[in-house]
Amino acid sequence: MNTTPNYRPVSYSRTTLTELMIPSYANFGGKIHGGILLSLMDKVAYACASKHAANYCVTVSVEGVHFLQPVDVGDLVSLKASVNYVGNTSLMVGIRVIAENVKTGTVKHTNTSYFTMVAKGDDDKPAQVPGLILESREDARRFLEAIKRRELSQRYEKELANSKTVLSVDSELHLLESQRCQLAF
Ligand SMILES: CC(C)(COP(=O)(O)OP(=O)(O)OC[C@H]1O[C@@H](n2cnc3c(N)ncnc32)[C@H](O)[C@@H]1OP(=O)(O)O)[C@@H](O)C(=O)NCCC(=O)NCCS
Repeated sequence: MNTTPNYRPVSYSRTTLTELMIPSYANFGGKIHGGILLSLMDKVAYACASKHAANYCVTVSVEGVHFLQPVDVGDLVSLKASVNYVGNTSLMVGIRVIAENVKTGTVKHTNTSYFTMVAKGDDDKPAQVPGLILESREDARRFLEAIKRRELSQRYEKELANSKTVLSVDSELHLLESQRCQLAF
């Protein structure tokens, strides 16, 4: 018997993952690898989305990954995730990443990203997710922003696909003259 409710509040699946940045996570410059942070973001997005959906979820797309500040070895990184939007089978999880220097207590906001996840049923097909109960004006603002983000992203994908089909290398080759490249053909 399926006991998953039709609607779930944002607070039900709000998730925080905290991890210490150990030396083996560092790159050659001594800072934390971007890939380590991406992996942690994917993990917290999964935990948050699958809790809301009560199903296994897969990552479909990631938006807004800009590393604004470097993260240092020894920092305590916290990733705060919440479901910002639900469609039919998809959800958008917003993740805010902060890094805290444990000695000084200084907290840096390193990035905010948006993961779109799709719930899968036992048949491995997309499965409907519960609707979202918005518990504050902030939740409503995030939901509205996610709708705009989705619309912009769909428009961008369409325009990109269109510009690829109409791209003529021969007639646009002159645009490369002002770029830092050399033609070797
Ligand atoms: C995600 C996946 C199930 C979508 O399959 P599909 O046949 O396109 O299914 P649908 O067309 O029914 O789309 C399902 C949902 O995904 C959304 N979706 C599909 N492609 C999307 C994209 N590129 N960006 C955002 N949302 C997308 C659709 O809008 C739909 O949402 P809705 O039900 O809330 O309206 C399929 O592409 C997949 O399994 N991808 C692999 C995901 C994976 O394994 N990720 C792990 C990393 S390797």
